[in-house]
Amino acid sequence: SAAEKGGYDYFMMKEIKEQPNALSTCIGSRVHDGEITLDKLRLSDERIKNIGRIHMVACGSAWHAAMVGKYVIEELTRIPVEVDLASEFRYRRPILSRNDLCITISQSGETADTLAALREAKANDVHVLSIVNAVGSSIARESDDVLYTMAGPEIAVATTKGYTTQLAVIYLIALKFAQIRQTIRPEVFQSLLADLQKLPEQLESIFADEDKIRQLAKDHQSTGTELVRNNVFIIGRGIDYGASLESSLKLKEISYVHSEAYAAGELKHGTISLIEPGTLVIAVATQDLLYEKLISNVKEVKARGAHVIAIVKEGCTDAETVADTVLYIPKTADLFTSTLTVVPMQLFAYYTAIELGCDVDKPRNLAKSVTVE
Ligand code: G6P
Repeated sequence: SAAEKGGYDYFMMKEIKEQPNALSTCIGSRVHDGEITLDKLRLSDERIKNIGRIHMVACGSAWHAAMVGKYVIEELTRIPVEVDLASEFRYRRPILSRNDLCITISQSGETADTLAALREAKANDVHVLSIVNAVGSSIARESDDVLYTMAGPEIAVATTKGYTTQLAVIYLIALKFAQIRQTIRPEVFQSLLADLQKLPEQLESIFADEDKIRQLAKDHQSTGTELVRNNVFIIGRGIDYGASLESSLKLKEISYVHSEAYAAGELKHGTISLIEPGTLVIAVATQDLLYEKLISNVKEVKARGAHVIAIVKEGCTDAETVADTVLYIPKTADLFTSTLTVVPMQLFAYYTAIELGCDVDKPRNLAKSVTVE
């Protein structure tokens, strides 16, 4: 009913709008007086100091969270991180050592492949720490440690608050491990912690662009435009590539518009042949180190006729000289931008689906939780 949907037409929009609260519960309950408390982890500080390798294993959007997580955890803790799709991990005889840590990620806590991967890790005496939303679910029960995302029930098949809270838990883990392993200076820890605590409010501020994004989705679909409507490319580098994967999936899942996330540096090795006049390219460029490179990639696709929407940090106004439309996200640490960049894309996917008359909450052929192989 409308009441269940909080007055919105679809659960997905209700859940998009719940993200600031969900994030503030997830982060706020674990940060006090400049310190992070990761619930009651069985994993001791001694073991954290000795972790040799981290294996992050998940499916779907949770796997996308892991793709971003690899960059964040490696950068802060200097622990090598491998990211695996659960359905691949369980059948490829992964190389596991006792001082490795396995992090499985699952909104529902019931995904069959992720559960099987968890069991595989445990059978090899690897400690399993899970990031789960559904309290008391199978993955939560069978893990050695659980960090709940505390997002509350998620009904829409396409995940929104589930994903952004998974990222938040990953940031907390990375910061805590980095502190324990002394791989970041105390003042860097404090400044990142301050940025982390600002994310809920910053995410909220992106909703001010909702009308603009709705119009973009409309313009992209309207007949009579010169735009190619059924094929979108989302490009980024580093963490922005990780976030592009999730943004691309949102669009595909609910609007059935084909889109592909591409590491921008790889464009010239294949995808650029698909760029024709009017192809929509969404460029995510939030990383200082890679910003100029991304702008060059935008120029390359523009030269082939692409229509470009750029997502950049506040202040990067020179993007306006190369892109057709620029969407800004508030300034945060480069490591944390994915939490914000994905939001305009959730809205873009939502309004594209609405424009095309799709059932946003129940996309064809998809299930919220996949409990069979
Ligand atoms: C299904 C859902 C996806 C989800 C994936 C993993 O395919 O449609 O939205 O990302 O499962 O689900 P989990 O509950 O393990 O996060």
